[in-house]
Amino acid sequence: MVGQSRNAAELDVNRPNPGRIYDWFLGGNSNWAIDRVFGERLLGMWPQIAGVARQNRAFMQRAVVDALDSGIRQFLDLGSGIPTMGNVHEILQLRTSDPVRVVYVDNEPVAAAHTRVNLQGTDWAGIVQTDLLNWREVFADDTTQHLLDLDQPVCLLAVSVLQFIGPESDIPGVLRRYSEKLAPGSRIAMTHFASDVPDPEARMAMERFRTECDVTPNPLWLRDRATITDWFDGLGDQWSLLSPGVTQLPDWRPDLITDPKSAAEAEKMRPYVWCGIATRSN
Ligand SMILES: C[S@@+](CC[C@H](N)C(=O)[O-])C[C@H]1O[C@@H](n2cnc3c(N)ncnc32)[C@H](O)[C@@H]1O
Repeated sequence: MVGQSRNAAELDVNRPNPGRIYDWFLGGNSNWAIDRVFGERLLGMWPQIAGVARQNRAFMQRAVVDALDSGIRQFLDLGSGIPTMGNVHEILQLRTSDPVRVVYVDNEPVAAAHTRVNLQGTDWAGIVQTDLLNWREVFADDTTQHLLDLDQPVCLLAVSVLQFIGPESDIPGVLRRYSEKLAPGSRIAMTHFASDVPDPEARMAMERFRTECDVTPNPLWLRDRATITDWFDGLGDQWSLLSPGVTQLPDWRPDLITDPKSAAEAEKMRPYVWCGIATRSN
């Protein structure tokens, strides 16, 4: 792994942790009893959350494969979480023998600590522990400097993370800063929990879940398709959305969903998340 190690004392073992809860939703082993209890509570409020987490992860995997197919070999994963259960470097290991590079970014000590452990012995991937809003710090960090060649295309992933950032932050401005640093041929992939879910009961369940998250260190926001589309539009003239634009999860490269069980689940989770991928032409 590239990047310095940090003190395990940063880990708070007494509180459920969002990265580990997410790992549990995904069926991973990097979670503790305290996380599973809180995860059960969240499932009680919005039973679809585990399926949504899996389908988000499945979209991320399709985004990585599609970027690889387009020739991209570098990945910058903002809000990477605990890098198991088919995260970016695992997908790359399965899909290519070409030299590839991955920089994970997460501001959460537990997620960062798990990442460091998982990446031990891997010299082509590393983590920057910081808030993704600190875009200057992300690019200035030794890990990024060492791993990424910004003269070559990068696939930036902001999957299931921008919903943890509130309206007091200038999300479109920060995305624009990232986009300006990326070479032609680069991509930006995003997903975000939807506020414009047609079914009122489903909307209420999401709202209960959202309110519960207010008391955790990770409150979250729901946003509509128009807002996510505006964020993509704000990336600048060189950027354009890949077909089919800002869409629901099962509609982005459905041909890459090879497991019928996952395809059926994707349909069920259809209304809850917006996703899209933009590419830089010049
Ligand atoms: C739901 S997980 C998503 C993991 C992965 N991207 C995926 O979709 O499978 C969200 C992650 O984003 C991280 N996160 C939340 N806000 C962040 C911020 N402002 N900067 C960096 N990371 C953040 C959390 O710590 C958590 O690990």
